[in-house]
Amino acid sequence: EGPVRRDFLKLAAGSFAAVGVGVVAWPFINSMNPSQDVLALASTDVELGPIAEGQAVTVMWRGKPVFVRRRTAQEIQEARAVPVGELRDPATDQSRVKQGKDQWLVVLGVCTHLGCVPLGQKPTDDRGAYGGWFCPCHGSHYDTAGRVRRGPAPTNLAIPDYTFTSDTRIRVG
Ligand code: FES
Repeated sequence: EGPVRRDFLKLAAGSFAAVGVGVVAWPFINSMNPSQDVLALASTDVELGPIAEGQAVTVMWRGKPVFVRRRTAQEIQEARAVPVGELRDPATDQSRVKQGKDQWLVVLGVCTHLGCVPLGQKPTDDRGAYGGWFCPCHGSHYDTAGRVRRGPAPTNLAIPDYTFTSDTRIRVG
């Protein structure tokens, strides 16, 4: 039982306590179909406090995975160093986060090519050549702003509607 596992358990417990339903960590999504009440949820609250820098959690919202990642300073720096004109789907890093909340990246965990769920949420996952996510289906690479950088995906990972309801909590939807 390493520290990662313990963090996960704490995180899961905290999330369920706060939200009641809808928050799961990545390892369980593969084997779990969202139940009807999860599908029906118009919005999903996510408690951010337990998410450490460099960590990510996956929550289900309207039957789709949403990736919430707390980025490191280096990941933010890398995303901002990219000349926007070189991107397939040009977008600044700033346009993909909420103002003053640079650490928090919230994207739909659905590859824009054919809809697979990209890897990169687990610490042991392949995050691809740009440190964000890697879609194993046909090899799309996404960077630390969720922008497509290589492979067949036509557009960046989509950003769902969400708002900060407090300093440590967001509501998706
Ligand atoms: Fe992701 Fe094809 S579905 S690369």
